[in-house]
Amino acid sequence: NAMRATVEFHGVDDDLPDIKVFVVKGKEDISIKICDRGGGVSRTILERLYNYMYSTAPPPPRDGTQAPLAGYGYGLPLSRLYARYFLGDLFLVSMEGYGTDACIYLKVL
Ligand SMILES: Nc1ncnc2c1ncn2[C@@H]1O[C@H](COP(=O)(O)OP(=O)(O)O)[C@@H](O)[C@H]1O
Ligand SMILES: [Mg+2]
Repeated sequence: NAMRATVEFHGVDDDLPDIKVFVVKGKEDISIKICDRGGGVSRTILERLYNYMYSTAPPPPRDGTQAPLAGYGYGLPLSRLYARYFLGDLFLVSMEGYGTDACIYLKVL
């Protein structure tokens, strides 16, 4: 998601800003933060991102010729479901016009 947002916001011909990834293991939590500068989303849109099938990517071809990286709109809701199932969580903090931080928490044990 971060890579797609970065490329779509800056354009393939531009220098692309780095995506920063932090992975930290504490006593109880494993925390992962993925920070992009892909333009972010507004707060009204942000609520919709966890709806199954919400996607701004074009629908992937159904002929099985390629494995799509986006377009089904399942990535965020399914990832959050799994994170919560394992007593963690997933959420996005976004600044429209700049970028997004995706935060994932998992348990060490
Ligand atoms: N880091 C991000 N920056 C900007 N928009 C994002 C980001 N992550 C997700 N989105 C938006 O949320 C939508 C849903 O994401 P996701 O559930 O992963 O489905 P998909 O990747 O198939 O579109 C994306 O289509 C995109 O519009
Ligand atoms: Mg996705």
